[in-house]
Amino acid sequence: MIALNVNGKAQQVDVEPDTPLLWVLRDSLDLTGTKYGCGIAQCGACTVHMDGQPVRSCVTPVTAAAGKKIVTIEGLDARAEHPLQKAWVAEQVPQCGYCQSGQIMSAAALLARTPNPTDAQIDDAMGGNICRCGTYQRIRQAIHRAAKGGKS
Ligand code: FES
Ligand code: FES
Repeated sequence: MIALNVNGKAQQVDVEPDTPLLWVLRDSLDLTGTKYGCGIAQCGACTVHMDGQPVRSCVTPVTAAAGKKIVTIEGLDARAEHPLQKAWVAEQVPQCGYCQSGQIMSAAALLARTPNPTDAQIDDAMGGNICRCGTYQRIRQAIHRAAKGGKS
C-alpha cells in the first residue's frame, strides 16, 4: 500500500510503485478531472500540484507523490470558486474543455508565485499546456482577470 495525501485527504492505494500518478488519481481515486492527453509530458492536460508545484502526473510515478501534498482540479477550491475558475467562466474560456483542468492548475501555480503576471510571464508559465481548440487568448485574459480580483 502507498500512502498519499490528495486534496487534503489521506488515501491508501494498492498499486505498482511505478504506476503514473495520473492513473492512480483517475482509476483508484475516481478523480477524473485530471486528463490524459499525450502520456509523455508534452501537453499539460494531466497537470496537478505537488507541494504547490505544477507537475505532469502522466510521468510522475506514484511513489514520487508519497509524503507530498497533491492537489487536483477537484481540490483547488471546495466550491469550485477559485478566482481562476470564476474568471474562466466570465471569459468563457473553454471550447471542448479537455485541456482546461490542466490549464487552470498551471495558472493557479503561476498566480501563487506571481500574483500579477505580465503577458510574457503568463506565456512562459503556460507554454507547456497545449490547447487544440486554440483558447490561448482567452486563457491569458482570464488569468489577468483573476489577478485583478475578477475585474476585466
Ligand atoms: S498527458 Fe501528461 S503532459 Fe500530456
Ligand atoms: S478547449 Fe479544447 S483542447 Fe483546450
